[in-house]
Amino acid sequence: MVNQRRHVSGAVYILLLTGPELWGLVSQTCNGRSQSPVNIVTSKVLPDERLTPFHFTGYKETFYESLINTGHSVQLNLPSSIQIKEGNLVDEYKHTIDGETFPMEMHIVHIKEEYDLLAEASKDSTSVAVLGFFFQESESANEKYDHLISALKYISQPKTNVTLVGVSLDMFIPSEIDRTKYFHYKGSLTEPDCAEAVVWTLFESTIPLSRNQLATFNQLLFYDGQKMVNNYRPVQPLNGREVYYSSGQLALVSSVASFI
Ligand SMILES: *[C@@H]1O[C@H](CO)[C@@H](O)[C@H](O)[C@H]1NC(C)=O
Repeated sequence: MVNQRRHVSGAVYILLLTGPELWGLVSQTCNGRSQSPVNIVTSKVLPDERLTPFHFTGYKETFYESLINTGHSVQLNLPSSIQIKEGNLVDEYKHTIDGETFPMEMHIVHIKEEYDLLAEASKDSTSVAVLGFFFQESESANEKYDHLISALKYISQPKTNVTLVGVSLDMFIPSEIDRTKYFHYKGSLTEPDCAEAVVWTLFESTIPLSRNQLATFNQLLFYDGQKMVNNYRPVQPLNGREVYYSSGQLALVSSVASFI
């Protein structure tokens, strides 16, 4: 499980998950009624004016942290100086939008401060906040990702890590990402034990990476020796849950795909 460090305030990790078809067997919670990921149908989302823009503190601040091949995903921890404040929200695996899938998804995981571990936090339905960003294949390389991608060769094996020096949040979340436009719903962790403890935020703007850059992530190995490719958890039923949208004006993500 991610984040077994004490007092973790957040972590950025690029998520590529294992064996979804076995998950129901791993934990009964994975068969629950409020699971993630879900398919977001943009024509059915409910505009919610209370969902105000996100603010990232320490966005340009450089830090050094371990980049880890956890055997399930690539994880980069964030220093506690970085804070992500969600507009008016109190307490603070492969998602699809209108059925569209994305080659990769990045999750910034926030655990409420009173909980030390993800396992402890899972008893409270809003104890974890995850910000999700979608990657999309682009013609040209995204140079801001070069540093991260060139470090991946040191962590091709599960349970290995390398220290990234001189990185900042702005290398991972492009300034072009519109922090005012996002989807919001209550769901679960996308890895066993799939605890239904997550407030999900999924940004509509996507992060570009070239085909070669995306392929580098696929060279990493999972615990079972398989490559980290096409191993997302399939979408789960909404079972009556509502998905909210932060803005009255909905620009469909699907239209972004047409420039590729
Ligand atoms: C990185 O790997 C070293 C050597 O295996 C290990 O001692 C250390 O705990 C690892 N660090 C993290 C953050 O996983």
